Formats: sequence, C-alpha cells, structure tokens
Amino acid sequence: MTSHSETRALTVAIETAKQAGALVLEGFRHHAHIEKKGPTDLVTEYDLKAERFISDALRKEFPSIEILGEEVEKGDISGAAWVIDPIDGTTNFAHGHPFFCISIALCYKGDPVVGVVHAPALGITWSAQKDKGSYRNEQACAVSKCTELSEALCATGFPYDRRESSEDNLKEFAAFLKTGQGMRRCGSAALDLAFTADGTFDLYWEQKLKPWDFAAGLLLVKEAGGIVTDYEGHTASLKSSRLLASNPTLHPLSLNLLTQARKSDTH
Ligand code: IPD
Ligand code: CA
Ligand code: CA
Repeated sequence: MTSHSETRALTVAIETAKQAGALVLEGFRHHAHIEKKGPTDLVTEYDLKAERFISDALRKEFPSIEILGEEVEKGDISGAAWVIDPIDGTTNFAHGHPFFCISIALCYKGDPVVGVVHAPALGITWSAQKDKGSYRNEQACAVSKCTELSEALCATGFPYDRRESSEDNLKEFAAFLKTGQGMRRCGSAALDLAFTADGTFDLYWEQKLKPWDFAAGLLLVKEAGGIVTDYEGHTASLKSSRLLASNPTLHPLSLNLLTQARKSDTH
C-alpha cells in the first residue's frame, strides 16, 4: 500500500467518521432503541445504522478492501482491511454520557496504517497515518512525558463477562488505584487510547479487547511516540486482546506493576 493511497484513505476515513458521528448524534439522548447482547453488553439501533453507513461509504470509495465491523461486517483482515467500531462506548451512548466515538482503521496484513477516532459529542477527532504522526483536531499530539507512576493519570476498562469471570481486572485496578495519581474509566477503549496518544492519560491497560476496539487507537499511540504491548510485553498487534499503552519511560514501570498485581492473591 503506497503512502499516497494511505493519505487518500485517511481523508476518506476522517470524513466518513464525522458523517457517522453526525448520524449517531441524532440519536444521542433521544431514547434510542436498545437491545442486550449479554447481561451488560448493549447494542442500539445507532450502532447498526452507523456501521451500515460507514461500510457503504468506505466500500463506495475502496470496493476491493475488506471490512470487519463489530456488528455486521465480517471481512477477512489478513490483507488490506478496514476495521471499524461504529460506536465504541455504547453503554455511555445508551445512558446519555458523551464519552463515545466512532473508530475506523485501515489495516494492512494486520498492521494499522490509518486510524481515526471521532468523538462527536466531545467535538474531538484524533487521526494518524503510519510514519506521519498523530493529530488531535489537526494539531500534532504526543504521549505524555510523565516518568513516575505516582504522578500518572491511569485509565482502564472492565470486561463484559466480569459478573461470571475471575479475570475481572479488579486486582490490576486496585494496584494502579493505590499507586497512581488518578484513575479514569472512560467506557470506550478507543477513547482511552486516543487520550493516551494526546498525553491526557499517562497509561492505559485493558484485557479481552477485540480488534475493532483498538485498531485505530493502537496506531494513534504508536504515532504519538508511545509503546503498546500485550501483558507479556510483546509488541501489540490486531491479534492481541490484552493491551498496555504508555509513554516509553512509564511503560516498563507499568508492565511491572501490572505483572505483580496479576500474581497477587487478593483483590
Ligand atoms: C467496549 C468499550 C469499553 C471496553 C469494552 C469494549 P463497545 O466497546 O470499549 O470501554 O471496556 O471492552 O467492548 O461495546 O462500547 O463497543
Ligand atoms: Ca468497542
Ligand atoms: Ca461498539
């Protein structure tokens, strides 16, 4: 894939994400129809509408590129593929909380090369192209310069199977809560990564993620100078499901704390 075609893909992805954002905002705080995919996992009519809108727009411009989406599209991601989350933060959206976004990534052989996270109710758009840096509302952005865990604003999320699984992130949450300067739970993995890319959050970790939750955010953090690995410290890829993202100084310290917390017996 050439740099020129990636630049065109980025332009289309930003425009499509903004149009989908406008569509989704029509349903925000207007009692959208909600269904349950699991006890705590929701889907609204706007998740479906937005995914159809985004996939139609991308297919019109790039008919040969596969599409994998959370709700409808089941394309193959081994070659060139769009990976999209039509609404990341559906629980927030359904409750009228403004922390939700549209996440669109173009990936090549499992490697994100273009990423857009657009939060319509916040009026913020993050974007990145491989080797060309990360941007927040068209201004270049970078990961934080924080070097001490005790000064870190930390972010995480909790899995949908937390009621029945012991892999519920509580030990890890306790460790960072006690160690860091503050803890935030956005309810959107894509936003957590975007806020890590622009230096708002100093670190973010989460398990049981799907490619559509983090494909765009992964590129945003990398292009902003950050490190994203799995919980073993290996470079994250679309196949990862457990991510730790931070700046280069804080990442090893965070990985150590995460590893120790996961070994401990108590919550
Ligand atoms: C979820 C959000 C949430 C994270 C979950 C994701 P959805 O995506 O990103 O923050 O904790 O793991 O599944 O269901 O809102 O698209
Ligand atoms: Ca998601
Ligand atoms: Ca979603």
